Amino acid sequence: MRLKLLTLLSLIGLVLTGCADQSGNETSETSVSSPDGSITIDVSLDSTGQIAYSVNKGATAVIEPSTLGFEFQEWPAMAGGLEITNSSSTTIEETWQMPWGEQIDVHNHCNELTLDLQESGESGRKFSLIFRAYDDGIAFRYAFPEHEGKDSIIITDEHTEFQLTGDHTCWWIPGDWDIYEHLYNTTPFSGIDALSKQNHPNLAQTYIPENAVNTPVTMKTSEGLYLSFHEANLTNYSGMTLKVDNETFKMTSELVGSDITGYKAKVPLPFKTPWRTIQIAEKATDLIDSRLIVNLNEPNKLGDVSWFNPMTYAGIWWEMHLDKSRWDLASGKHGATTENAKSFIDFASANNIGGLLIEGWNTGWEHWIGFEDREGVFDFVTPYSDYDIEEVVRYAKEKGVEIIMHHETSAAPRTYDQQMDTAYALMQKLGIHSVKTGYVGPLIPKGEYHHGQWMVNHYRRALETAAKYEVAINAHEPIKATGIRRTYPNAISREGLRGQEFNAWSNDGGNPPEHLPIVAFTRMLAGPIDYTPGIFNIKFDGYKPDNQVNTTIAQQLALFIVIYSPIQMAADLVEHYEGQPGLQFIREVGVDWEKSITINGEPGDFVTIARKEKGTGNWFLGSITDENSRKMKVALDFLEEGKTYTAHIYADGENAHWDDNPTDLKISEMDVDASTVLDLKLAAGGGVAISILAK
Ligand code: NOJ
Ligand code: CA
Repeated sequence: MRLKLLTLLSLIGLVLTGCADQSGNETSETSVSSPDGSITIDVSLDSTGQIAYSVNKGATAVIEPSTLGFEFQEWPAMAGGLEITNSSSTTIEETWQMPWGEQIDVHNHCNELTLDLQESGESGRKFSLIFRAYDDGIAFRYAFPEHEGKDSIIITDEHTEFQLTGDHTCWWIPGDWDIYEHLYNTTPFSGIDALSKQNHPNLAQTYIPENAVNTPVTMKTSEGLYLSFHEANLTNYSGMTLKVDNETFKMTSELVGSDITGYKAKVPLPFKTPWRTIQIAEKATDLIDSRLIVNLNEPNKLGDVSWFNPMTYAGIWWEMHLDKSRWDLASGKHGATTENAKSFIDFASANNIGGLLIEGWNTGWEHWIGFEDREGVFDFVTPYSDYDIEEVVRYAKEKGVEIIMHHETSAAPRTYDQQMDTAYALMQKLGIHSVKTGYVGPLIPKGEYHHGQWMVNHYRRALETAAKYEVAINAHEPIKATGIRRTYPNAISREGLRGQEFNAWSNDGGNPPEHLPIVAFTRMLAGPIDYTPGIFNIKFDGYKPDNQVNTTIAQQLALFIVIYSPIQMAADLVEHYEGQPGLQFIREVGVDWEKSITINGEPGDFVTIARKEKGTGNWFLGSITDENSRKMKVALDFLEEGKTYTAHIYADGENAHWDDNPTDLKISEMDVDASTVLDLKLAAGGGVAISILAK
């Protein structure tokens, strides 16, 4: 055993010990603890040279010994026979700033342990494991060094295990290789049955090959700990799903594959994998306030991105989902006309709404859904004949509204790759700084999946290319967020969940009231969400008698605060906002934050978040509940001492109910300060939104 003792050991809580296993063979162990000492990762090698790690929070086991390994194409598996040749450690402590985000200053503080490993015997192959222990969770990644005679390796399987300690309650969606737009399920770990979610009637694409979950997957243990498993810095690799063994309570990484290449990832040497992450918290609210995922990403590579302004936005969008208009011109009810765009611009400008998304502006929509050969259908520069793009942009500028571009690729990314430069150059010429992209449908070429390495690289190429033209991207049907926004702050938002649109057309009753109180503790831990809140005409019977939004209006307003995104859509039709007193909240709400505090919450039940607006001193608070009504006291002790604020409270009316009476909204005004304790009452499926304006 070649172990080098470290001088720093005692300083940072790292210990290396030699000991003997039951057969008397020497084994080695190393461990690293978080800065406050509460979380410890132990790493061990057994007598066969198999490496394993375990995680503790205080005296409580979080992960029992779990092994690590790989399989490769035309290279022996990495499965054991390892020695630790070196170990080194360091403390990382820095404060960095988000150019836009939930807060300005982010504290990144952890202890890091690097173990260099070598296979015994002839091969002598080397790799390293890097562990980080934070006060709010742990992370680790694999680093493959250069190897003589090889410039790349082909990974056919990653075997990262997470051995849970019991049958935890889990909030999960299936490990779909193509889409995250599933309802969350709440079951014990032993009850996870992802295969029963196949053949989803509402999805244009879906592929669930085995009983696996997607990440983030959040759990509650019988000891009351909250855990969330995910990954950070997914770069040049495949997305990770977690295969479930219902009986042993073990999860094992299952990378998204490709039927074309037959492998999971081909990576250059040297290479570092994405981080495998576990958030660990005693209170569910701490999961939301953790910045573990962004902290594990590299610093901003783009520099100044002040050309992107966080904003609320309206859209020629909901009307297509309601079937009031269509994307395509041939339908005879085309939505993206110059005239319609101008009326939305007038509405946005009059109501302090910063942006306008216009979908269906370019030719090709006649050949969108259902077409086999979608290559070359869209070109992203040719407007329909009834849409004068230059005039719309001119008018918007005059009215102080930014146009948001739309690029639906119809899951033909090779066409988009060819045209990205041209498309973004047009945007730059027009002074348009953000685009919503979309990837609806089975991928072309057939055999690639949305979450595989090929697409991970495509989505990244889009971000890098867009950045050259000062363009920010809000991706729909995206790859999951893994904190890349720290490195590429033009990755402003994304979908990657069942969004509001499902309420307009899904045939399974839409998103139930518990959906967003689960999303806040699962998908939202990954990063910003373009959920598109703000529907006021909850039942829209004039358009779709069988569909509706399953919340009250007050909850639709609260979502502007609870579901974080630097672009936040006021999604309803102009005529549905007319004369509505609740519109005042959308006029005054902030979108860019100095700090955020999660005040209370439980996954699947309720959540309350307060955010302080950058630059104004105003605070905004949002609270949402599931199908149960609730009362709560909220202390405004986060307000500045000695200062009085005017609070505008947009609450559920006395008789509000998500289904029976969703539009019952009660607006009141009162003076508040840091000593105020509010008594809030949320209706079933309801919420409350509060503007706390500095006087
Ligand atoms: C699906 C997106 O989620 C939705 O927002 C968009 O309107 C359509 N695709 C068309 O691109
Ligand atoms: Ca979608």
